[in-house]
Amino acid sequence: MRRNFHLVRHPVVQHKLSLLRRRETSVTEFRALVGEVAMLMSYEVTRDLPLTRKRISTPLETLSAPVLKGEKMVLVPILRAGMGLLDGMLHIFPSARVAHIGIYRDHRTLEPVEYYFKASKTLRGRDLILLDPMLATGNSAVAATDRLKSAKPRSIRFLCLVAAPEGVTCFHKHHPDVPLYAAALDRKLNSHGYILPGLGDAGDRIFGTI
Ligand code: URA
Repeated sequence: MRRNFHLVRHPVVQHKLSLLRRRETSVTEFRALVGEVAMLMSYEVTRDLPLTRKRISTPLETLSAPVLKGEKMVLVPILRAGMGLLDGMLHIFPSARVAHIGIYRDHRTLEPVEYYFKASKTLRGRDLILLDPMLATGNSAVAATDRLKSAKPRSIRFLCLVAAPEGVTCFHKHHPDVPLYAAALDRKLNSHGYILPGLGDAGDRIFGTI
């Protein structure tokens, strides 16, 4: 059992993930399924968000009703595949703010390089959800989390569809305090950094760049 690693075992999530993995799933289907799984997983990833109470009136009475506590949450897709998870999350959290982070791996040094970052100036004190469908080596997720932590948010959570054991180990070596949510923990990485059995290149399958 890995600490701070949450496998979302819901049967509908598992079923849709199996459809995503199939080689013959079309771009149209893949894109829709990624959105549906993101929507379903949004419940799990936010299940411990703090609540406060607010006085409201129903047509019949007033009551002190539970509402989410604090500023609007911020969704942070890692470009480009993380964008595939964004719409599904926004269906459930339509007023969430969105920050974008672009990271690539330098082929010479193999180190992650940030090439784009655009966020509201006020990440401080907010709840952030970092989005990337595949947690492979973990290097991009670590670099993105380093960057986000420097903005002093209230919390960071990481949501992916498929994680490799190597990525989970790497991520939690650097950020043991950040909970990871995944629909599957696969077997291993191959020599090109792809997850086995995985689902292939998530960005290519979402954007049809195969
Ligand atoms: N990124 C992907 O899109 N797929 C993998 O298997 C690994 C990284």
